Amino acid sequence: MSQAFSFTATDAAALWAEVADAAEALVAGERDAIANMANVAALIWQAIPDLNWAGFYRFDGRELVLGPFQGRAACIRIPLDKGVCGAAARLRTTQRVADVDAFPGHIACDSASRSELVVPVVADSRLVGVLDLDSPLPARFSAADQRGAETLVARIAEALASNP
Ligand code: SME
Repeated sequence: MSQAFSFTATDAAALWAEVADAAEALVAGERDAIANMANVAALIWQAIPDLNWAGFYRFDGRELVLGPFQGRAACIRIPLDKGVCGAAARLRTTQRVADVDAFPGHIACDSASRSELVVPVVADSRLVGVLDLDSPLPARFSAADQRGAETLVARIAEALASNP
């Protein structure tokens, strides 16, 4: 089945709402978390401008492990006490970083990254992983981007956690 989605909104809040609607439609009825993460990473990559990396790290009970993503090959394992992703996972709080070079412990997987938005994925009080978005532009992510990404994750968290 072809899965062609088009995104037309021009402001961030409306664009994220379109992506969340598409994501919810795509994951509906599919219980494989890897497949769902792969499709959601692809939707975000297609819809959200000025990204150089978009995807997931999964929590394996000890640390974060690279999951489905779009962009350049990336760091495979991230301890919870390292980097922007580790902070989001450890604190279970979104990290919106305007200048990654100013973030203590930032892990430079892709030297092009200038700003970053990392949203923890939590389902049934369990840490599933994080959604990580990187941009080559400084201060790329607005409060509206943060709210949009958080709402998307909240709407589909169960589908990113469950497995057959
Ligand atoms: N920069 C991230 C690491 C992941 S990559 O950007 C894909 C961090 O500091 O956690």
